Formats: sequence, C-alpha cells, structure tokens
Amino acid sequence: MAEQKATNVHWHDHRVSSKDREKAKGQKGAVLWFTGLSGSGKSTIANTVDHKLHEMGKHTYLLDGDNIRQGLNKNLGFSAEDRTENIRRIGEVAKLFSDAGLITLTAFISPYKADRDAVRELLEEGEFVEILADASLETCEARDPKGLYKKARAGEIPEFTGISAPYEAPENAELTLDSDAKGIDDLADEVIAYLEANGFLAK
Ligand code: ADX
Repeated sequence: MAEQKATNVHWHDHRVSSKDREKAKGQKGAVLWFTGLSGSGKSTIANTVDHKLHEMGKHTYLLDGDNIRQGLNKNLGFSAEDRTENIRRIGEVAKLFSDAGLITLTAFISPYKADRDAVRELLEEGEFVEILADASLETCEARDPKGLYKKARAGEIPEFTGISAPYEAPENAELTLDSDAKGIDDLADEVIAYLEANGFLAK
C-alpha cells in the first residue's frame, strides 16, 4: 500500500458539499466497478451502460484501463505491485468523481481481491458496486479481441492475466454478469435494472 510522504498537509472542507453537487445533478454519486479477465466484455458492457445512463439524462464518466494506462498511469506496468498502484490511483480518482456527483464507471481487470476491497473501503457504504463480467478463460481466449492471448501463449507477454498471472474473482460481487452466454445489450440492461431496483437512479 502507498504510504504518505507529505507532512504538514491538512484536509480542507469545501464550501460546496458532495450533497450540493448531487442535488444540482439530481442523482447520487456512485462507483460502478467492473472487473473481469481481458476479453470478458467489461469495457464494452461499461461503455453500453454509460451510454444508456447518458441517454436517460444521467451524469456519468467512464474510466477504462487501456486509456488510463496511456495517461495518468503510463508509468505503471503489470507486476503485482504496479497493478496494485494502478487500482489504488483509479480508486482515488473514482472517489473524487463520485464525490462530484457523477455515476462513475470503471473497467479494469483489477485481478486482486485485496485491491478491490481497498477501493470499497475508501468509499461510503453503498457507494461501491462491484460488477463481475463473468466469462471463462476459454471464452476470453477464443474471442481474443486484441490478439493478446495468442501473444501471451507464445511467451511474448509476461505476467498476462489468466495465463501467467492470477485473476481472483470476487465472491460477493453486487452483480455477476454471465458474459459467457448473454449479449452486451442484455447485460447492460441487467446493470441498469440493478441500479433502478437499488435506488441508485432515484432523485
Ligand atoms: S489491471 O490488472 O492493472 O487492472 P488494466 O485493466 O489496467 O489491468 O489493463 C489491462 C489491459 O492492458 C488489458 O485489457 C490488455 O489490453 C492490456 N495488457 C497488456 N499487458 C497485459 C498483461 N500482462 N496482463 C493483462 N493485461 C495486459
């Protein structure tokens, strides 16, 4: 876990509160945390949920592994330590976005249970929704949308999740999506239905 280096820093409360920001947007801030193997469909499902929420007039933002790793986290690789730091930073960013009143979607493999649990701990009770894009390694490898499994099997990508690095599936995710069997649009609708049923979209 990252340790704080700065001393003599003090927390400032802002005049505009999180509640004020939520009220202005007519919604509650939340973090929809998608996890799953590469090729499990988490980014595509998150993208579709993001689009559907946007069409419903909700204020959202999507943070995606491949994109964030080209900017904020460009100095991180795929060792266990770097993945932990990747998820720690995303957790902190997602916390800020949620504090701003946005429904924040994140799509990262986030293979370690402890790292995901640490993000859950950062947030308020009920603010974190863990969503597993549940597809078997066989399915993900057969899809291989970016050709990475092929490269990993050929030994060209070290520490590749599912092949030469672990993936710890959540045991108590708020939502498990059967992305082996079902299509993207149906799975996105399952997420929306969950959010509606649990008061996340109430004004
Ligand atoms: S995480 O494990 O730290 O959460 P993250 O979601 O940010 O990973 O990035 C995963 C993406 O990086 C994959 O979708 C894939 O495109 C790419 N990638 C490149 N190398 C690896 C690797 N060794 N393991 C997993 N994904 C990799």
